[in-house]
Amino acid sequence: MIISKDASLLGFNTFGIDVKTSLFVEYNTVDELKAVLTSEMVSGKRMLHVGSGSNLLFLSDFDGVILHSGMRTINLIEETDEHVFIEAGSGVVWDDFVAYTVENGWGGAENLSLIPGEVGASAVQNIGAYGVEVKDLIAKVKTIEISTSSERIFSNDECRYGYRQSIFKQEFKGKYIVTSVIYKLDKDPVYQLGYQHLEDEVRKNGDVSLKNIRETIIAVRESKLPDPKILGNAGSFFMNPVVPKQQFLELQSEYPTIPHYFVSESEEKIPAAWFIDQCNWKGKQLGHVGVHDKQPLVLVNKGGATGQEVVHLAEEIQKSVKKRFGIELYPEVNYI
Ligand code: EPU
Repeated sequence: MIISKDASLLGFNTFGIDVKTSLFVEYNTVDELKAVLTSEMVSGKRMLHVGSGSNLLFLSDFDGVILHSGMRTINLIEETDEHVFIEAGSGVVWDDFVAYTVENGWGGAENLSLIPGEVGASAVQNIGAYGVEVKDLIAKVKTIEISTSSERIFSNDECRYGYRQSIFKQEFKGKYIVTSVIYKLDKDPVYQLGYQHLEDEVRKNGDVSLKNIRETIIAVRESKLPDPKILGNAGSFFMNPVVPKQQFLELQSEYPTIPHYFVSESEEKIPAAWFIDQCNWKGKQLGHVGVHDKQPLVLVNKGGATGQEVVHLAEEIQKSVKKRFGIELYPEVNYI
């Protein structure tokens, strides 16, 4: 176990905000986690569990305990004619997990290549990209209830997944800690190439295969999204708004080329990037924070930014989109 006082959180937020926590604890087993939860260390203190902090924005130093999982094992726990069930510890780096599935020829996770973060957060956040959401692969989520230190296993249904949503972000926010996730993968991969021009991009690189899809997606992401090691950021800053069909049709009659994705008979999803782009935010900078020039959904730390500065720019963007389109943008990033 690692326990450190007044610890820097620079390594635990991809925005690169220079803040500290009163106490940082990294545990390596479920038993260690239970021991921490029932100890003096955390009693009565504010507590936050983080992964790699790729979806967090710290607004100030954290007065409390930051917990992190050091559980990094991956095991095949069940196999049928068609599927494998793989259990990954919450501290496994998400993209290491994807690389492992692709190397073994198991399909399902390849479209989610290079998403920053760890396995535990994947199940809380329902990460998604290129037409796939992690909920499509999750069989079960193993957790510890914080108040009782007891184990509880959630089925996929019980997690109540939606676009970037789960029960762990809503009703049970701050109540459970994910310890491992069991993913169901296909032995005979079913390729998901329907997103925009993905299939064309993949075919340009050769025959369709898990490896080719992974490499293509990595190249697409690297061309659009800034590397947090070079330019601090937390990926998409806002969620893509899901709007009632009628509102979408009104926007479409005014802007015939507006991009959109079908959600249901009554709702459409519109890329937040399009609204932000239309409001001419691309490449703009306020203080130490900028709007990424290749993907305006990403806000970047140009060096030395504070959380408050990021919020200020985010609010200016929200106001301008609201004023021009009547659309509310909601942050995907969690303010702490
Ligand atoms: N667009 C513009 N201007 C731009 C960029 C994009 O108008 O400068 C419009 C275009 O019409 C484009 C559309 O936005 O077709 C969608 O852009 P993109 O394919 O880059 O995807 P996104 O909707 O902006 C979402 C996820 C990303 C994920 C990509 C690919 C959310 C909030 N974001 O972005 O996830 O990688 O799709 O599937 O759903 C993340 O969550 O951190 C993340 C990067």
